[in-house]
Amino acid sequence: MEASILAICYLIGSVSFIIGLKMLSHPAKARRGNLVSAAGMGIAILATLLLYHPGGEALHNLIWIISAIIIGTIIGATAARRVKMTAMPEMVSMFNGMGGLCAALISIVELGRVANDHSDMHVLSILAGMVIGSVSFTGSMIAYGKLQGKIKDHAFKGQHLVNLFVLLLIVIIGAIIITSNGTFSALIFYSMLGLSVVYGILFVLPIGGADMPVVISLLNSFTGIATACAGFLYNNQVMLTGGILVGSAGAILTILMCKAMNRSLMNVLIGSFGSTGTGAVHSVTQQGSSKEISLGDAAMVMGYAQKVLIVPGYGLAVAQAQHVCNELGKLLQNNGVVVKYAIHPVAGRMPGHMNVLLAEADVPYDDLLELESANEEFGSTDVVLILGANDVVNPAALDDPSSPIYGMPILEVGKAKLVIVNKRSMRPGYAGIENELFFKPNTSMLFGDAKTVLHELVNLVKEL
Ligand code: TAP
Repeated sequence: MEASILAICYLIGSVSFIIGLKMLSHPAKARRGNLVSAAGMGIAILATLLLYHPGGEALHNLIWIISAIIIGTIIGATAARRVKMTAMPEMVSMFNGMGGLCAALISIVELGRVANDHSDMHVLSILAGMVIGSVSFTGSMIAYGKLQGKIKDHAFKGQHLVNLFVLLLIVIIGAIIITSNGTFSALIFYSMLGLSVVYGILFVLPIGGADMPVVISLLNSFTGIATACAGFLYNNQVMLTGGILVGSAGAILTILMCKAMNRSLMNVLIGSFGSTGTGAVHSVTQQGSSKEISLGDAAMVMGYAQKVLIVPGYGLAVAQAQHVCNELGKLLQNNGVVVKYAIHPVAGRMPGHMNVLLAEADVPYDDLLELESANEEFGSTDVVLILGANDVVNPAALDDPSSPIYGMPILEVGKAKLVIVNKRSMRPGYAGIENELFFKPNTSMLFGDAKTVLHELVNLVKEL
């Protein structure tokens, strides 16, 4: 009876994950989706504590388990409340790494069970969970350090060969363990663990620049797979479903981001794209000099334009200027100007960053244009207002084969009649490369912090 209730609770948990994930795909329902999944997880945890009786006995160590849940909840909730939107990728990396570590620890703990029950599938799950979990843990920690700017990109000659060799050793040791019928020594298992830890570090260390989001989502997918292995080990359906959902969602996101940057996954993993190695700024040949536009003139051209496209970027998030940006957009719309927002898939520092940022300020979802639609509209646009975006509008991606971002689709803002670029200086963006757009004849710079500039623009447009 208890086993049936437990199975039903796991089913409810699994279904709530799927419904929650589906709801996450729309900003209006995302918050509720998160709650639905969390509730499902709560039911699954409670049911496990009360109804899971391995070997006919109730769970031991309840005090330890409940204390760990309370501590984890406090740390997680505090971190999530305090984190700045711009530091979200670091937090995702850290939490993801913890998931990988849990999966790896489960495998290590369950190693003892292999002595009694050494079915090949169980051994395989333990090894896969340990390898993938450890790679995900150390890889995520390196990614966290890089996003914080504390760890630099490191690559040495022949690194990819060394990585392949380490991977090969892991596979060989895995094969030895599986074919040993449970007679393998703990030493060989721990040497496999050590190699996996090293592989996670070596794998992420050379990757940098604009490729970090792809790596993070790939590591996310690894953690999902490692969790699914643990779910298989315990015959726990909700863990299995959760792991498979995270694994497949991470894999799909990885593929979509590679597509957004027009790159293959293999190219990301072995190309060290975006990593300048020395950290040097890649220069472009400047075409003349840049020119500035005054706040008054900028307000005037936008106020009397027919169509304005706003391009938000990382700087808008840093300035926390989304609300005043929406205020300006609405003001222009009330004056009869068509205003739309052009969203690049990797603008900002995490997938969907600009969508979340603008949704926070209640910008109507229908006013957002995806990359392809925006590129079709720029030709008929009077003014493009770029707010703290740089790499995602850099024409070097289209016409400079030597550029580290060559091949990435960009917002082709240069097709508009006038381009106004708001940023604080001529400094480069994330990829560390200069931007030829700033020197084009139809581009004018509007220097200053995005929030201050937008407040001034709002006041000036009101006076028109
Ligand atoms: P970036 O190329 O990073 O450029 C942002 C610009 O904002 C900077 O040039 C900076 O110039 C300006 N800025 C900073 N603070 C500002 C402020 N307070 N007011 C006004 N401007 C400010 O941003 P992007 O165009 O959004 O491109 C995103 C980049 O990050 C891509 O290279 C992408 O691959 C990478 N990336 C993306 C993700 C995801 S998934 N979205 C994750 C990690 C990395 P000043 O310093 O001169 O002001």
